[in-house]
Order: sequence, then structure tokens, then C-alpha cells
Amino acid sequence: MQQIDVAILGASGYTGAELIRILDAHPHFRIVMLAAHSQAGQLAGDVLPGLASPWRDIKLGHIDDPLPDRCQLVFTALPHAAAANSVQRALAAGKRVIDLSADFRHRSAETYQTAYGCEHPHPKLLTEAVYGLSEFARARIAATRLLANPGCYPTCTLLPLVPLLRAGVLDDAPIIVDAKSGASGAGRGAKTDLLYCELNESVRAYGLPRHRHSWEMEEWAAFHAGRSVRVRFVPHILPMNRGMLCTLHLSGRDTAKWHEILHSAFIDEPFVQVLPAGRLPSTTAVKGSNRCDIGISELGAHEAVVVSCIDNLLKGAAGQAVQNANIMFGLEETLGLARLPCWP
Ligand SMILES: NC(=O)c1ccc[n+]([C@@H]2O[C@H](COP(=O)([O-])OP(=O)(O)OC[C@H]3O[C@@H](n4cnc5c(N)ncnc54)[C@H](OP(=O)(O)O)[C@@H]3O)[C@@H](O)[C@H]2O)c1
Repeated sequence: MQQIDVAILGASGYTGAELIRILDAHPHFRIVMLAAHSQAGQLAGDVLPGLASPWRDIKLGHIDDPLPDRCQLVFTALPHAAAANSVQRALAAGKRVIDLSADFRHRSAETYQTAYGCEHPHPKLLTEAVYGLSEFARARIAATRLLANPGCYPTCTLLPLVPLLRAGVLDDAPIIVDAKSGASGAGRGAKTDLLYCELNESVRAYGLPRHRHSWEMEEWAAFHAGRSVRVRFVPHILPMNRGMLCTLHLSGRDTAKWHEILHSAFIDEPFVQVLPAGRLPSTTAVKGSNRCDIGISELGAHEAVVVSCIDNLLKGAAGQAVQNANIMFGLEETLGLARLPCWP
């Protein structure tokens, strides 16, 4: 059986932990290195609750430690800007890389700097990175050594949006994306506004006037549409651990055909499910799975609301990363990944 050795840099964070959980059950990928930053040197089991043998007894390396020779693939689950340095070192060591951060999701250093407010540490690598929205880039994903895993909000937004843009049925009005996320979307770092008392029994918008994922949505929507696309994106944080719901307010022509356009775009996709007309998705129905569920409600001949849901840590991060790893190594795309949710 083909065995591919992998390293996880950022193993002490939420997406890193999710990668460990998925890869533990994967028939081909074998974890040979777990690394962290401030928590390097600790036992993985002391940092991550619930880890079982053998992972709990492994000492976390440092993200700057040399990568094992036998390691072929490196997952970088690190904050933006820090990730780019680890990516550059891994590529220089001859490894293939899947980066879960935003560092290689844009094609120009200028857009990255506008969205993230810092200079790109390795702009020369931007042109070779492949934006890994799995369902729409399989051939490029298979061939690359540097995979930029899409952001959670852009994944949830672009999956239903791209088929409609490609079909040419949307007009050029700004696309309103009203989005909700659970708290794990903000990572594991301690922040006052993520304290239990600040989050519990409360919902709030954040990231205005322009959340950094707006640029990512517009860039890749335009790529698929062949024209510029304007997005008005307002995220909200909800008192739940995981889950993401994006409500897209869309206008154009022939809304009666939009359900069929989405249905035929995804009919053969294992991880994208278009619900029957009139049914709308929920975060609990995708939690723990690598799935995106999509529902549509026509508001008339020219307007419709499309709702999509993902688990931010799975199809929005670690799940799509493993889906992309399967494609990169010529494996069955669904290996190691759950299609059914952890429900209720
Ligand atoms: N959470 C999500 O839903 C989600 C979805 C899509 C993409 N992403 C992206 O994936 C990446 C990881 O997200 P996460 O939610 O897993 O974050 P997280 O829970 O905060 O974990 C961050 C990881 O990076 C390490 N780290 C922290 N500060 C660092 C620094 N200055 N330099 C180097 N390493 C540092 C941490 O190590 P120590 O614990 O040892 O300090 C930890 O292993 C981010 O770029 C994020 O934007 C996250």
C-alpha cells in the first residue's frame, strides 16, 4: 500500500488538530512530524485534549526544526505571514506543501498587502501557487507543489456562486454575502472578545467595513466569471463551536433555472449536496463532515437567496486540505473524509 509521510506545522491549533484527527484514520498518509510555535517541546497530549496513543506521547517539534527526509508533504496550519516562511523552507527542502493560511490565496502581492495590511514575505512564490477550491481546480491541484487552501468563508460562498457565474445568469449588482460562523473560525489564541461571557447568548457582526476574505471572494469569483465581481460581505460570530452559514442575496435572470444549474454542477460531487427545491441547509447537518450543503429560494423572476453551509474546520480548512492532498497524490478523493455529519 502506498504510504506518504506528512508533517503538520501548527499542530497545536484548531485546524492542525483536525488534520491529526483525519490523518489518523487515513489509509495512505502517515504523520511523521507534529510541530508548534510557543507550545513546542510539550507533549501533544498535554496540549490537545482527547488525543490518543501514539499521538498523545509525541513531543511537539518547533515549526523551524528541519523536516524529516522521508516527509513528502507538509501541511502549514499557521497564522498568515508566519506561514509563508515555513512554506518557503519546506519547498526549498523539496517537499510539496498545502498551506491553510491566506498567504498564497492571492495572485498578486499588492492584493495580499491590501487585504492583510502587511508585505508578502515571499511574493515570488505567488505565481506558482494553485488556489485549491477542489471541485473547480482538480487538474491544477494534481500538478502543483504549492497548494493554497481556500478560506472558510470564500469556500462557503464560492461553491454555490461559481456555477451561477459561469452560467452567466447573474447581473453585475454587488453580491451580498451575509455570513455566520462559530467561534473556532477565529482560532485557538486567547482573545477577550472570544471569552465565554462575550460570546454566549450574543450575535455580532465583525470585520467591517471590509473583512479580508472579501478580496479573496472577489478575486476568485472574477476568475470564474471572466469579469469583475463586487462582493459586500458581512460576517457574524455565533455562540457555537463550529459551523458556517453564508446567505447570498443574488439578482439576475431566469431564477427558475438556478436550482437546476446548481444541481447539475454538483450532481457527481461527493462533498457538495444541492438540497431539493424549497429546502434550506443548516450547520448541524454538515457538522463533522467535509460537506457543503446548498439550498435556494426564489424571490421572483429576478432575485433569489442561496444559502450554503459547511463545517469551517473541515470543508472550510482541514477537510478540504486532505481532499486536495488526495488529489495531489493521485488517491481516491474521498479517502479519510466523512460525508455524513456528526448529528445531532
Ligand atoms: N479556524 C478556522 O476555521 C480556519 C479555517 C480556514 C483557514 N484557517 C487558517 O488556518 C490557519 C490556522 O488556523 P487555526 O484556526 O488552526 O489557528 P490556531 O488555532 O490559532 O493555531 C495556530 C497555530 O499556529 C501557531 N502559531 C501561533 N502564532 C504563531 C506565530 N507567530 N508564528 C508561528 N506559528 C504560530 C500555533 O502554535 P502554538 O500553539 O505553539 O503557539 C498554532 O499551532 C490560519 O492561517 C487561519 O486563518 C482557519
